[in-house]
Amino acid sequence: MIFSKIVGTGAYLPPQIVTNSDLQKIMETTDEWIQQRTGIKERRWVEQDKAVGTSDLALEAAKIALADAKIEASEIDMIIMATLSPDHDFPGTGCFLQPKLGLAGIPALDIRQQCTGFIYGLSIADQFIRSGTYKKILLVGAEIHSRGLNKTTAGRDIAVLFGDGAGACVIAATNDPTGSRVLSTHLHADGRFAKELWIQAPGSAYAGPWMSKERVEKGEHFGAMNGKTVFVHASRRMPEVVLEALEANHLKLSDVDLFVFHQANLRINEMVAKQLGIPEDKVFNTIEKFGNTTAATIPIGFSEAIKAGKLKPGMLVATAAFGSGFTWASALIRW
Ligand code: UT7
Repeated sequence: MIFSKIVGTGAYLPPQIVTNSDLQKIMETTDEWIQQRTGIKERRWVEQDKAVGTSDLALEAAKIALADAKIEASEIDMIIMATLSPDHDFPGTGCFLQPKLGLAGIPALDIRQQCTGFIYGLSIADQFIRSGTYKKILLVGAEIHSRGLNKTTAGRDIAVLFGDGAGACVIAATNDPTGSRVLSTHLHADGRFAKELWIQAPGSAYAGPWMSKERVEKGEHFGAMNGKTVFVHASRRMPEVVLEALEANHLKLSDVDLFVFHQANLRINEMVAKQLGIPEDKVFNTIEKFGNTTAATIPIGFSEAIKAGKLKPGMLVATAAFGSGFTWASALIRW
C-alpha cells in the first residue's frame, strides 16, 4: 500500500504589517470593531507599488518547504497551486510558479476552491500519490488579497478581514501504514450558496462585454459576502466535517493532538471548538497576526505551529476549512 506524507512545510508572509489602526486611517472602522468581531489585530500586505505576484509569495514558501523536506526542486513531480488571487486571470498561477522553480515540463494544476483550496489540494495530492502516479508533489496555497480589496468604507466588511501570505507543503509517498501519513480527506461543496461569497465580474455569465465601466462603478469586481450566512454555515459545517473524518478512521476527538482550522474569524473557530468540546490549547490560530489568507491559512498554520513547538512528529492533526462555493473539507494527518 502507498500512502502520502507531509515531508516539508514552509510559510512566507510579506514583511509589511498593516494594523487595525492603519485601516482606521483609510476607512471608517475601529480596532475595537475588528478585534471584537474577528479577533484580527494585524495582517500583512505586499507593498502596493511593487510588482509582486501571488506566484512570488508561493515561490518563497515553496523554497522553505523544499529546504525543510531536504529535497531539491528537481525531485518534484507535480505542482498543485491553490489561490483565488491569481497572478493573472489565466493561465493558472502554478504555471507562473513552475519556471521560477526551474521545473518546466512537470504538471502544474491550479484549483479554485478558495478557503478550502489547501485541503482540496491535499486530497488531490493524496490521490495521485496513493495511485502510484507521482512520488513527490508540491502543494502551495498563496494569496495576494491586498490588491483586490475595496479599501474604502464601502468595502470595510471584507477589507479588514483579508491578508496576504503563502504556505507550502511537500507531500511524498510512504509505505509505512502506521507512521506519518495523511489518514483521509473529506471534501464537500454546495453551489446553491455560490453567490453568498463571490466576485461577480468579470465573468462569462453576463450578456454583453466581458467587463464594463458600469460594473466597475458598481464595484462588482470586488469580493462581496453575506457575512452572517457564511458565519452560520461555517460554524455548522466545520464541526460536522471534523467528526466525519474521525468516524471514517474510527478515532475520537480526544485522539486528536492539534486542530489547525481555516482562519476566517477567531469567533468561528471558538464556536467550532465549543461545539466539539475541544480544549483551547489544542486549537492553533494565526488570525490575530495574519488575518484571513484564504488558501494559505492552513499551511501557514502548520509552519507556525511547528515554529511555536505545538506541532511535533507523531501527533494526530485535524484540519478543516469552510469558504466560498460554499465548499468545506477536512483532513486527518498523522504528523
Ligand atoms: O474565509 C471566508 C469566509 N468568510 C467568513 O467566514 C466570514 C464570516 N462572517 C463573519 O466573520 C462576520 O459576519 C463579519 C466579521 C464579516 C461581520 O460581522 P457581523 O457581526 O456579521 O457584522 P454585520 O455584517 O452584521 O455588520 C454589523 C455592523 C453594520 O452596521 P449597522 O448596519 O449595524 O449600522 C456594518 O455596516 O457593522 C458594520 N461594519 C463595520 N463597522 C466597522 C461592517 N464592517 C465594519 C467594519 N468596521 N470593518
